[in-house]
Amino acid sequence: MSKLELKGVSFKYPRGKRMIFQNVTESFASGKLTTIEGESGAGKSTLLTLLSGLALPTRGELLMDGEPVRDLTSYRRNAAAAVAQANYLFEGRTVLENVTYPMLLKGLDGESAKKKALEYLEEVKLDGELASHFPSECSGGEQKRVAFARAMALDNPVFLADEPTANLDRGTSRVIADILVSLARERGKLVIAVTHDARLPELADVRLFLRGGVLEHE
Ligand SMILES: Nc1ncnc2c1ncn2[C@@H]1O[C@H](COP(=O)(O)OP(=O)(O)O)[C@@H](O)[C@H]1O
Ligand SMILES: [Mg+2]
Repeated sequence: MSKLELKGVSFKYPRGKRMIFQNVTESFASGKLTTIEGESGAGKSTLLTLLSGLALPTRGELLMDGEPVRDLTSYRRNAAAAVAQANYLFEGRTVLENVTYPMLLKGLDGESAKKKALEYLEEVKLDGELASHFPSECSGGEQKRVAFARAMALDNPVFLADEPTANLDRGTSRVIADILVSLARERGKLVIAVTHDARLPELADVRLFLRGGVLEHE
């Protein structure tokens, strides 16, 4: 069981004038899908950046299993896996190489990584034929699913997604939503998705709202 906590977290961008959050305290548990809703500009992506270990809070702390997160590189490699809204796939690498990458990074041998990557691609309902294609040859929905497969391949206890269903057709949105639910309930991951999509939160175990720099429960 993993536990992720924000403890009195405030955040201001180095060149920003205002605090995006003020004294946010919240706890997230494994086995649950938590959604965080909020209007555009509310600070959802910023919050996910902190939870992803891409920046440190201006004040307060992020705690993983009770320990303050200080080494962001190690946190990103071993604790949190994130899918950014823009996916950030490796453009010069094939779909398969994108998905094997995190496993090779963690020391898995090439053959096993390839086998597992194909399983992850199947899980996100991508045709194995796509494995040899480059991201630029994939549709938006396919790219999102490759980004999901790559993040899943890290197999970290925390799984984060920024607007995972934005700009997707209904069918692909549903695939993505089902993956988030299954990562939480079947794999026991701690899953957090920030979204302004009204449908995804209906499937969530915990629904939070980001308003005026504060996280509120339903
Ligand atoms: N790098 C940055 N520097 C300064 N301000 C930023 C930066 N990135 C985002 N912001 C500001 O932070 C606020 C929250 O943005 P964001 O987290 O992207 O909101 P959301 O994802 O909810 O739409 C916005 O007012 C935005 O202009
Ligand atoms: Mg955003």
